[in-house]
Amino acid sequence: MSRAAVLFSTLGIVAAGLGLAWAWPWLAALVKGGDASAATVALGKTLYAMHCATCHGADLEGQRDWKSPLPSGRMPAPPHDASGHTWHHADDVLFRITKVGPAAVVDGGYKSDMPGFGSVMSDEEIRAVLAFIKSTWPEQEREYQAEMSRRERETTQGE
Ligand code: HEC
Repeated sequence: MSRAAVLFSTLGIVAAGLGLAWAWPWLAALVKGGDASAATVALGKTLYAMHCATCHGADLEGQRDWKSPLPSGRMPAPPHDASGHTWHHADDVLFRITKVGPAAVVDGGYKSDMPGFGSVMSDEEIRAVLAFIKSTWPEQEREYQAEMSRRERETTQGE
């Protein structure tokens, strides 16, 4: 081999190694199966800070005393971490609550301080925010919520 060929093949190997190192977190997330990619979760984290943190807390801790109604009669924002009940709801419910707001989902004149985000976020962005929220849950809550979502998909497919 000429010196140039040796140099180019060495560069090639180094470039492939760097490429793999860069892609590794994404590949690992894919291999874990079904989980959102690290890039989606990162996007969701930014969107959460922009649109949700004011009410649901920078650390997803919710508003103080979130189980008692406010003087207005409306409910405070619940935490999105494992201490709340966000993980009790299937994907479809979480998506609709975020897109159209709790009042439209509950219906019957229910009033909520949370607006729908359908006009400020795309469906993909809403899914990214939810992927970020889910990524903060411990294994048990994640599994429970995944099972709820599977069951809901099965029942809606049967309709
Ligand atoms: C202006 C305050 C406010 C903002 C901003 C806000 N929320 Fe909420 N959110 C609430 C309140 C209050 C509730 C309680 C629902 C009710 O009114 O009964 C709630 C409830 C929810 C629920 C249902 C949780 C459960 O356990 O039932 C989800 C999911 C949710 N919010 C997601 C989001 C996401 C995602 C964002 C950002 C894109 C967001 N919220 C931004 C106030 C807010």
